[in-house]
Amino acid sequence: MSDDATGMRKGLTSYGDAGFSLYLRKAFIKAMGYSDDALDRPIVGIANTFSGYNACHRNAPELVEAIKRGVMLKGGLPVEFPTISVHESFSHPTSMFLRNLMSMDTEEMIRAQPMDSVVMIGGCDKTVPAQLMAAASANVPAISVVTGPMMTGSHKGERLGACTDCRRYWGMFRAGEIDADEIDEVGGKLAPTAGTCMVMGTASTMACMTEALGMMMSGGAAIPAVAADRLRHAEAAGARAVAMAANGPTPDQIMTPKAFANAFRVLLAIGGSTNGLVHMTAVAGRLGIEVDLEALDRMGEETPVLVDLKPSGQHYMQDLQNAGGLITVLRELRPLLHLDCLTVTGRTLGEELDAAPPSWPQDVVRPMSDPLYPQGGIAVLHGNLAPDGAIVKQSAASERLMSHTGKAVVFESQEDLANRIDDPDLDVGPDDILVMKNAGPKGAPGMPESGYLPIPKKLATAGVKDMLRMSDARMSGTAFGSIVLHITPESAAGGPLALVENGDMIKLDVPNRRLGLLVDDAELERRRAAWTPPPAHEGSDRGYLKLYLDHVQQAGEGVDFDFLTKVADGRKTPV
Ligand code: FES
Repeated sequence: MSDDATGMRKGLTSYGDAGFSLYLRKAFIKAMGYSDDALDRPIVGIANTFSGYNACHRNAPELVEAIKRGVMLKGGLPVEFPTISVHESFSHPTSMFLRNLMSMDTEEMIRAQPMDSVVMIGGCDKTVPAQLMAAASANVPAISVVTGPMMTGSHKGERLGACTDCRRYWGMFRAGEIDADEIDEVGGKLAPTAGTCMVMGTASTMACMTEALGMMMSGGAAIPAVAADRLRHAEAAGARAVAMAANGPTPDQIMTPKAFANAFRVLLAIGGSTNGLVHMTAVAGRLGIEVDLEALDRMGEETPVLVDLKPSGQHYMQDLQNAGGLITVLRELRPLLHLDCLTVTGRTLGEELDAAPPSWPQDVVRPMSDPLYPQGGIAVLHGNLAPDGAIVKQSAASERLMSHTGKAVVFESQEDLANRIDDPDLDVGPDDILVMKNAGPKGAPGMPESGYLPIPKKLATAGVKDMLRMSDARMSGTAFGSIVLHITPESAAGGPLALVENGDMIKLDVPNRRLGLLVDDAELERRRAAWTPPPAHEGSDRGYLKLYLDHVQQAGEGVDFDFLTKVADGRKTPV
């Protein structure tokens, strides 16, 4: 059986006799009721991530039906298969801990089972990156379909969006501005429909970046989960996957350095989640492409934030869809994009833009001449506190804190923070800098979204809304505040963050992209000599936790496992 076998002949199970392997496979698949005619068709796999634990994927079953319809309309055989499904709030210790596991599951199921192309249903934060990582490694023609954003809720006449308003209302509750009954009432309205968080959080960011990358059918990022258009988009993806089964393109032909540059351009222009950087770094790493943080920072300086969505702005994803979806953003960015990049449709990004309907007056996507912020949302920092980099989302931060020197108030871990942050005796003032250690890829483990350190209760009740906070953790894309993230190397790996002590002065200088610990080198050397790593995590001697801790890399490598990243081939992005 040749390597370029297709359909049921593809990737036969080893019984030593290829003819017998195919005979046995067909014997078993016939128990599903398929005819020989059906089994001779091109096979389109459908990665079904429905799970009773994943409300963001509640509509996956109807998307599967729509994709199947599209496949069959074009004469293919759709075959759905399950993979791990990861939801943010149902993943202990963190969803990031499980992203790589999901990517391995998805990659191996695409490889192991006979399929000529695959449609992958993702949505919640980690699922789309895991699937793109899998597609990059398996390199079978693949299309990403997302479940789509939720519709907004409403409380006392005010629109509500998960989870920017989850955090805002929780902050109000902590500050004593609303009572327990009201916070409970709001909790029932924050996620009112199927779909993903409807602000420009990680799920929306990844959907937009995936469309810009070319791995999603044009127009698919912002269609609400409950809209009929979402099903038509899924049907079109199924139909397209049949053509891709015969002629590609393959993921490596789509996901080039230029295509990643388009995705990063969009990340900056939409004021997207900082997680988009980590995830796309991991996807690019699967193809041997390195992310050049300095080039990304330069790109940020010349890319304005155009999309007026929470948490940086005021609208929600359904408003972006009503404004024309991501196409409206891409049209504005056109002079800055690589228009010759191939997409899953077989057309280039430029051809997709030419084919899109004309724009109409709207106030969600600003023109380049009147941006929401003149520079992109994310700045890359370096300095003796972050030799391998750190980031800050300027568009979600207080401008006055972007050049700030303050006294460090240090928490050794997430647990230490939880125990002391609301202590009335905590020695902290509004100009101090909250510093949390041991919340990086290895430290937590799983680099949780705990970088959004809460304002100490005694300051919150006194009216302090924002202060400078920093850690080696990540932050939800739905969060808002002056927060330095992804400090690399992380504390648990012995990075300089591990050496920070209470009372040290730290200087943040975003205009010059510097993050400095104002402690002299001799003192830092003394502290380094005395440093010991944190105690081993419970259960770290076996299973997936051991695999994870032995192989997880830092934020600069996308927090992927070293054995999954492809050896760098010299290509860099953004270009
Ligand atoms: Fe799934 Fe926000 S929790 S997208």
